Amino acid sequence: MSEPRSEAERLDGSDPLAALRDRFVLDDVTYLDGNSLGALPAHVPARVDDVVRRQWGELRIRSWEESGWWTAPERIGDRIAPLVGAATGQIVVGDSTSVNVFKALVAAVRMAQEDAGAGDGAGRDEILVDATTFPTDGYIAESAARMTGCALRPVTPAEVPSALGARTAAVLLNHVDYRTGRLHDLPALTRAVHACGAYAVWDLCHSAGALPVGLDEHGVDLAVGCTYKYLNGGPGSPAYLYVRRDLQPRFDSPLPGWNSHAEPFGMRSAYAPASGAVRGRVGTPDILSLLALDAALDVWDEDGVSVAAVRAKSLALTDFFLRCVGEYVPVGRVESVTPAAHAERGSQVALRCDDAGEVMKRLIEGGVVGDFRAPDVLRFGFTPLYVGFADVERAARVLARTLG
Ligand SMILES: Cc1ncc(COP(=O)(O)O)c(C=O)c1O
Repeated sequence: MSEPRSEAERLDGSDPLAALRDRFVLDDVTYLDGNSLGALPAHVPARVDDVVRRQWGELRIRSWEESGWWTAPERIGDRIAPLVGAATGQIVVGDSTSVNVFKALVAAVRMAQEDAGAGDGAGRDEILVDATTFPTDGYIAESAARMTGCALRPVTPAEVPSALGARTAAVLLNHVDYRTGRLHDLPALTRAVHACGAYAVWDLCHSAGALPVGLDEHGVDLAVGCTYKYLNGGPGSPAYLYVRRDLQPRFDSPLPGWNSHAEPFGMRSAYAPASGAVRGRVGTPDILSLLALDAALDVWDEDGVSVAAVRAKSLALTDFFLRCVGEYVPVGRVESVTPAAHAERGSQVALRCDDAGEVMKRLIEGGVVGDFRAPDVLRFGFTPLYVGFADVERAARVLARTLG
């Protein structure tokens, strides 16, 4: 095997996505935090400037129609759809992931309870939630459970198949674990949830834009995700909600705002839900953030980037990082908590060490940006659109020096 530096050069030289790096604003810093906040695509500031100065400044209220503001949540949802394996008409963009988790989970429980009422009468009064989840999903699930008269049962994704039962209404899972980078088996878990008559809600924050999801192919019921990580939509860019087409007529939102009304400008006192993905909307869309995201998504369309190519590079990057860490870092100084098997790995590597907080501080001072997750995890995210193999080698080298 060649030594890491020349190997990095060889891998960068044969990387079909290498040219995309120039589409992003980057500097000498090795940026491995795209799993928290994606880098800025270079053309976005000019687009946002146009939205502010011309669309808002000159057209003012006319832009709701003429600049397509009103329909942006569905239009941009349709642009995200191919990235998560969904046909158009099933995704709406708006609100935060936390809010969309709430909408999706309550709607899932309502459907399960409706099924139970119409069928054998078995009560569906339990929600299973990923015990290892990013905290917000757990907090929201707890509130959703209280609201719907359910018990909340935290279980690890591996325990889900044995925890499912006649009482299960809905299951809230993460496609990729935010801390360890473990990729869960979405097809098998969704099948198991369906086999017991419950609904599956997936959080795609750490998989969309990094690996194939296959929402339609695997019959996922509902899904949510953020757009500021691998989709590079910018800080606080709006999240999305997927509701499978055949479930849309039954999607009973717990937040039925006027934007999801069948006739929003009818100003009626009685609520009547719109049909289709629009039903997932709540209030006035956050146009500036939404259109920054819209612009950021051009990177995928204009350059014809395939999710399969992104996944192949992501695995090559994380493999190479693990190899470099193995070669440079003294044995036993860090322990990888990210699965070695490709089928179980997202697009990040998490290394555990007792002094992780201090190590990450020094790494950032040394020009390598990852992040620290309490109590003892160093996270490194690899965004295939702009991270190269030389970045990976450098990060491992600086890490070894820092740890030493
Ligand atoms: C898996 C996961 N779910 C939810 C969230 C929170 O999303 P939001 O702040 O958009 O509500 C995050 C944020 O990083 C996350 O990683």
